[in-house]
Amino acid sequence: MPIDSSTQVSGQTVCVTGAAGFIASWIVKFLLEKGYSVKGTVRNPDDPKNAHLRELEGAKERLALCKADLLDYESLKEAFNGCDGVFHTASPVTDDPEKMLEPAVIGTKNVIVAAAEAKVRRVVFTSSIGTVYMDPNRSPDIVVDEHCWSDLEYCKNTKNWYCYAKTVAEKAAWEEAKARGLDLVVVNPMLVIGTLLQPTVNASIIHILKYLTGSVKTYANSVQGYVDVRDVALAHILVYETPSASGRYICADSDSIIHRGEVVEILAKFFPEYPIPTKCKDEKSPRAKPYKYSNQKIKDLGLKFTPVRQCLYDSVKSLQEKGHLPIPTQNQSNFNIN
Ligand SMILES: NC(=O)c1ccc[n+]([C@@H]2O[C@H](COP(=O)([O-])OP(=O)(O)OC[C@H]3O[C@@H](n4cnc5c(N)ncnc54)[C@H](OP(=O)(O)O)[C@@H]3O)[C@@H](O)[C@H]2O)c1
Repeated sequence: MPIDSSTQVSGQTVCVTGAAGFIASWIVKFLLEKGYSVKGTVRNPDDPKNAHLRELEGAKERLALCKADLLDYESLKEAFNGCDGVFHTASPVTDDPEKMLEPAVIGTKNVIVAAAEAKVRRVVFTSSIGTVYMDPNRSPDIVVDEHCWSDLEYCKNTKNWYCYAKTVAEKAAWEEAKARGLDLVVVNPMLVIGTLLQPTVNASIIHILKYLTGSVKTYANSVQGYVDVRDVALAHILVYETPSASGRYICADSDSIIHRGEVVEILAKFFPEYPIPTKCKDEKSPRAKPYKYSNQKIKDLGLKFTPVRQCLYDSVKSLQEKGHLPIPTQNQSNFNIN
């Protein structure tokens, strides 16, 4: 969905936590294009991995990078000072409980409390579909929507520490915001892929990269929902700017949950030159089926989604352009979206 620059905003200052991340970089880019002044928090402003932010249009005039850590409350408070709004995207993205839990949970609480102290108008928190759908007791006939919550015991028992930590973090965010009368809106994206602005490869993009490098020989018998990073960034800005927006927003196109077998088929059709797996790791069990879900709430705000085939194509082209994947000498890529 193209950015709507007809609604240029000037005079508003907003803060984006973890500004150099995959999703946050696009949020910063779109906010600058819309005329916002942006404070972006990073842990080390001198790290060359943040350089792409300084190259963005409008960055020289309206982007300030500030040093902040999620576990350092004072650094967050300082960053939010004078801000109208906060986009809280910073979080580790890992299944290692030691690295994940504290920054996700304590860090999110710190963000909400510091934002309330700084009297920001609204906080938009990047949660995850992982806080919504992980429930083995839900009937397959149920349509997963924003009322659903992941089962914490199930996340723990299956060692899905990312979903566990994000669920605890989102619940804590709602509790802290309610206690402090802070206006909080939450975006729950599916797995985010697409074009990278940052120079490094983030965890969700590795999910696609691994199918192209020969590092995996089979694909899992499981399903996954995908969403384009630009759509996710625009969803954040849309819920920030829409006064009536409230609660949680599942963020992915309709029919974006596909089997990993379909993912590798799409990739192989577009990019036959890479050693993409053709065999399922588990051919004995019945093929996993997608669950039903509703994205009606975000669509009602006017968000239009990029089809999943396009997201997969854009991810690979971007990995090539950033030097993370060798570009074939003879371009055999075969792009026909139909
Ligand atoms: N990518 C997905 O598929 C996906 C899907 C659903 C939800 N999400 C959520 O979206 C958000 C962003 O994800 P992403 O994929 O864009 O991740 P990413 O590229 O890995 O960026 C995460 C950012 O968080 C920052 N961070 C990590 N620990 C921190 C700490 N202790 N203090 C301050 N900053 C810290 C990192 O900052 P440094 O640069 O300082 O290291 C990094 O820039 C996360 O909340 C994630 O849970 C992601």
